[in-house]
Amino acid sequence: MTDDTMRAIRQNAFGGSEVLRLTDVPVPVPLPTEVRVRVHAAGVNPVDWKTREGHGVGGVPYALPLGAGWDVSGVVDAVGFGVTTLKPGDEVYGMPWFPREAGAYADYVTAPSRQFARKPRTIGHVEAAALPLAALTAWQALVDTADVQRGQRVLVHAASGGVGHVAVQIALARGAHVIGVASGAREDFLRSLGVQEFVDYRTAHFAERIDDVDLALDLVGDPATTGTPSIAIVKPGGLYIGVPGGVAPQLAAAARARGVRATGILVEPDGHALAAIAELVDSGRLRPAVQSTFPLQEASAAQDAVASGHTQGKVVIEVAVNDDPDRLL
Ligand SMILES: NC(=O)c1ccc[n+]([C@@H]2O[C@H](COP(=O)([O-])OP(=O)(O)OC[C@H]3O[C@@H](n4cnc5c(N)ncnc54)[C@H](OP(=O)(O)O)[C@@H]3O)[C@@H](O)[C@H]2O)c1
Repeated sequence: MTDDTMRAIRQNAFGGSEVLRLTDVPVPVPLPTEVRVRVHAAGVNPVDWKTREGHGVGGVPYALPLGAGWDVSGVVDAVGFGVTTLKPGDEVYGMPWFPREAGAYADYVTAPSRQFARKPRTIGHVEAAALPLAALTAWQALVDTADVQRGQRVLVHAASGGVGHVAVQIALARGAHVIGVASGAREDFLRSLGVQEFVDYRTAHFAERIDDVDLALDLVGDPATTGTPSIAIVKPGGLYIGVPGGVAPQLAAAARARGVRATGILVEPDGHALAAIAELVDSGRLRPAVQSTFPLQEASAAQDAVASGHTQGKVVIEVAVNDDPDRLL
């Protein structure tokens, strides 16, 4: 790495985690309206390894070589012409460019300033990097799409995962009654977040224990095991949101027959929502859980951990640890 180059995790082929390479690439220069962020930590999401394998977001023609990752927390170190709301030295977090390539597993990223927000004050960069994609997904589902209200019954599948554990907290902050589904080993974690009801999917079928929900947030997205039985327990007029995979034709038909609304969702960058999420964190109502961290050069292991499908909370890559004493986390 020289003054003009930086470390970045990139791939020259689609495939297993062995295709990820630590490379030296030019430090990007911010265009007008963009900021350059010195990345301190980068969150890891399932879409990262799915994209690496070549089946990321449908319809996006990812080209090689490709930089990995979207979630960043760091410090603005340069701004392009026209940026008025951020300046060098500001601590920010965001999910820039999604679903286009962002290259977040790197020393620097550049992106439009309004795709970032100020990092929550009360957490460090590692925890902040755990939030953007997961929390924006949860926010855009629960707040923007469902407009969850006090007293509503909200069912969350995969409640202990990256999106789920944040969704649970956002729903609780809005006064909802939250039912979390995960394996039994996650019950204490989810109860500690405040879920009122818990179902262990390995020992019971949620649809035999739960009824009359206003919203089913399906973070598993299997039409047979979670989709169809979830729609069957949503109240007429209620909503089913299929997060991975959207709403398959048979789910749309089942929802229509029952008078239930059903939609897919794809998360979008949104600096205003990130600012609202930061307020929830700083007021003590939302706390990301980081299961494990990896150094930048172990990005493959970080993605493998997430690809197991059974992490609790989030996995985060520490980018600026031990490489620059002025920028320790
Ligand atoms: N459309 C979008 O914009 C969007 C945005 C974000 C995420 N996604 C997708 O949504 C899914 C969830 O994302 P994530 O980041 O939350 O994933 P994640 O962190 O990998 O989810 C892991 C969690 O899923 C739980 N789980 C696994 N199988 C389950 C089952 N059959 N029933 C209930 N829980 C189960 C696990 O609990 P146990 O260990 O107890 O099994 C684990 O805690 C992924 O497919 C992701 O690609 C889509």
